[in-house]
Amino acid sequence: MSNRHIITTQVAIMGAGPAGLMLSHLLAQAGIDSTVIEIRSHKDIAETVRAGILEHGTVNLLVDSGVSDRVLRDGDRHDGIELRFNGESHRVDFKELVGESVWLYPQTDVFLDLAARRSADGGDVRYSVTNTTIHDLEGKPKVWFTDADGVEYEIQAEYLVGADGSRSHCRFEIPEADRKWHFHEYPFAWFGILAQAARSAEELIYANSDKGFALISQRTETVQRMYFQCDPKENVAEWDDDRIWAEFRRRVNGNGFELNEGPVIEKMVLPFRSFVHTPMRYGNLFLVGDAAHTVPPTGAKGLNLAIHDVRMLFEGLESYYRSGSSDLLGAYSARALDRVWKAQQFSYWMTTMLHTPEGANDFSRARQLGELNSVVSSRHGLAYLAEAYTGWPGIS
Ligand code: PHB
Repeated sequence: MSNRHIITTQVAIMGAGPAGLMLSHLLAQAGIDSTVIEIRSHKDIAETVRAGILEHGTVNLLVDSGVSDRVLRDGDRHDGIELRFNGESHRVDFKELVGESVWLYPQTDVFLDLAARRSADGGDVRYSVTNTTIHDLEGKPKVWFTDADGVEYEIQAEYLVGADGSRSHCRFEIPEADRKWHFHEYPFAWFGILAQAARSAEELIYANSDKGFALISQRTETVQRMYFQCDPKENVAEWDDDRIWAEFRRRVNGNGFELNEGPVIEKMVLPFRSFVHTPMRYGNLFLVGDAAHTVPPTGAKGLNLAIHDVRMLFEGLESYYRSGSSDLLGAYSARALDRVWKAQQFSYWMTTMLHTPEGANDFSRARQLGELNSVVSSRHGLAYLAEAYTGWPGIS
């Protein structure tokens, strides 16, 4: 005997991050019903500092599906980045090389735009749920959960989507014999800060130095986001503002270039790894975004890949509900993984090209500078970087 309240829907979605909400939004526009549940609170997600680069294809999807014109108003279009090494800056001119741009618009804002739109459209999105359990993935999936008021529910759906992030609960429901995990660990992490300071440059600076990598990004006129390569076990409490700025200066300043400094208002260590779960489907469960793969942040690909997955899955579901054919849905995992592996390669390449491992010998350091020089002196090298960074053709 159960007194669970039943929710019947076509697609159940675990996770109300950008991937889960975007899928729910696209499905709603196509007349397909979904219910989204999320273990975190809206406030908690809205207050988490996340990365900020959107490919042109991601921006187009936000704009075309009517979720955000704020990205065009409040985001900053970037037509290139700077690679900085040996004290010199080299511009990678995306517009000139591949005719594309990216947008600096934080993931937190993408979440806020999607959450507001789902709520305005009367979408069924439930935050702060607990006790989630998943059943019957090979048949008609069911999800049990308790809502924020302590009421118990059972969702009965035709498909279940795991958009529940890198600590995915859904992923662990897939039997070991039916999946493969591909891992790569790196011997470094990022020390990330938010600082009150004026912008130091118009575009992002990816800096390589003998002392390690640093990334100079931005948020607003008065708040900047920056990172430097650190040990994964680094303790933020041991870093006061003076020590942090000295580290940035050693890695970025020189030849007349100086960072604008100011009070550090947030600091955190971000460990990273490369991970892919294959295939991205089991029975009637589909994995999207970080639930299926994580990339190091050096290539700025995490959110963009998640949105690409969503587009592929949406096309499959839409085609199924419109025509009854499950061909495109059957191709979901392969279609998504094609881009996932390109992005894994790009993120791995940017990471190893720009970071300096502890104890690197003279050969490996000189080889690394040779690699950087060969990229910035070759139109083909620069164009590969520009094409990958702005997002491969295929999603416009
Ligand atoms: C950020 O602005 O947080 C950011 C930008 C580019 C990256 C990673 C993070 O590659």
